[in-house]
Amino acid sequence: MVKIRKMKEEDIDRIVYLEETILGESLGKQMLLDEMNSNITKFYVATIDDVVVGYIGRYAYLDQAEILNLVVDEAYQRMGIGQKLLDQIKLDLPTLKTITLEVRVSNGKAIQFYEKNGFVPLYKRFNYYRNGEDALIYAKEYI
Ligand SMILES: CC(C)(COP(=O)(O)OP(=O)(O)OC[C@H]1O[C@@H](n2cnc3c(N)ncnc32)[C@H](O)[C@@H]1OP(=O)(O)O)[C@@H](O)C(=O)NCCC(=O)NCCS
Repeated sequence: MVKIRKMKEEDIDRIVYLEETILGESLGKQMLLDEMNSNITKFYVATIDDVVVGYIGRYAYLDQAEILNLVVDEAYQRMGIGQKLLDQIKLDLPTLKTITLEVRVSNGKAIQFYEKNGFVPLYKRFNYYRNGEDALIYAKEYI
């Protein structure tokens, strides 16, 4: 069964591994450690039998949040785990009004995922990623 819980320090190596293998880059161990202790940042992991199979990170300030990263282990994708992780942000912040994120223009899977969840594209950040790819900025308003 999939469980969602707050990230612990001992999860970080596994998260860096998931980010590097699935996304090709990671926020990095040090940043995850630093951000873990910040008031505005929270990370959640999804586990199956105590193994971390996905994670989400967000910043939040007042009624606004921004998704920092979201990854689900390829072997466990399309099973609703990404959905559970995303839902956790709103569960934890019931007064949330706006949530934003950036995604590579080529990342069709993630774009489908966010659009299914009511996110709408706002604008592009050109030449945003290291390989020159553009980023799409998406937002969702809770009314
Ligand atoms: C994006 C991601 C987190 C989705 O996680 P997931 O656990 O596979 O997603 P879910 O099973 O909760 O899917 C929910 C919905 O998202 C959409 N979706 C998810 N994967 C999809 C795919 N491969 N193709 C098309 N739509 C997809 C569907 O609408 C799906 O609903 P459905 O299964 O009822 O059709 C996952 O694909 C992933 O880790 N991708 C690589 C990392 C990444 O790109 N992260 C986002 C960075 S911005």
